[in-house]
Amino acid sequence: MQKIWICGAKGQIGRAINEVIDKLEYKILDTDIDDLDITDTDEVLRFGEMNRPDVIINCAGLTDLQECEKNLAKAFKTNALGARNLSIVARKVEAKLVHISTDDVFDGKSQKPYTEFDETHPKTAYGKSKLAGERYVKEFTYKHFIIRSTWVYGLGNNFINQLLEKVDQGENLSIAGDQFGSPTSAKELARFILHLIQTNEYGTYHATNKGVCSRFEFASEILRLTGKQVEMKPVVTHMSDFSRERPAFSVLDNFIMTMTPVYDFPDWKESLKEYMEERGLLNEK
Ligand SMILES: NC(=O)c1ccc[n+]([C@@H]2O[C@H](COP(=O)([O-])OP(=O)(O)OC[C@H]3O[C@@H](n4cnc5c(N)ncnc54)[C@H](OP(=O)(O)O)[C@@H]3O)[C@@H](O)[C@H]2O)c1
Repeated sequence: MQKIWICGAKGQIGRAINEVIDKLEYKILDTDIDDLDITDTDEVLRFGEMNRPDVIINCAGLTDLQECEKNLAKAFKTNALGARNLSIVARKVEAKLVHISTDDVFDGKSQKPYTEFDETHPKTAYGKSKLAGERYVKEFTYKHFIIRSTWVYGLGNNFINQLLEKVDQGENLSIAGDQFGSPTSAKELARFILHLIQTNEYGTYHATNKGVCSRFEFASEILRLTGKQVEMKPVVTHMSDFSRERPAFSVLDNFIMTMTPVYDFPDWKESLKEYMEERGLLNEK
């Protein structure tokens, strides 16, 4: 039985992997910051060498963008040095390493979807620290899958929960009509990861649900699926009630997947409906 160590197991993606994985097929080692801080080099090495996983999945990260700007050292320590520690131990125990990264490694100024071959150019502290993490992974272990995604929602704090909280308070909402991305289901991403680890197709992947929408269109679809009504208008990012700091263009092209057909993501609306249904939020009119 293969052993999989999931770091950041209590986050959105960590929880989604736990939800979709077949526990009869794999032995799971879940850790999060309370059990094992990935920035603690000795502890990471000790845990890895003691348990000798076949696969390590790094879902741990400092994902709060404002916190990353305010506390640069914490951002780089978690997102870069944490990734370094896991890649060192992965190499030592000959495990495959999955490292989750982000569209924030790009500046969001493009007019067309970013492929895995486009030059990175992060603007935010979060993006810079995540790119540093990617570089460590590449430096320390070749058996890696770097997976960049965007606009991920799953169990935990995400745009859907934040939006519905405001809707329930009866607030009129202003949502960015000038931010574009592909809402991506954490569960779908988890299915992709579990598929990929069975292969030796190492490298960097862009992995998002199909289709593109504005933040306003995403919010409108969430609202439509809940059957709730609230006044909502599209605005420019700096007038928005949410995510003022996001890159304008977060669209990733799953280009490598078109060449190495390891997985086919569904359209974002299909996965969003699945999520809303599972959470008891669906009340389509
Ligand atoms: N969400 C997105 O839209 C998105 C998009 C692209 C890529 N990603 C990347 O995917 C990964 C997972 O995202 P997510 O949405 O699942 O994030 P998340 O919900 O914020 O989960 C991250 C988890 O990592 C834990 N953690 C933080 N610092 C740690 C440390 N030093 N050691 C061990 N665990 C630590 C967090 O604990 P606390 O909550 O207690 O801090 C949390 O449980 C992140 O690396 C993120 O950069 C996310």
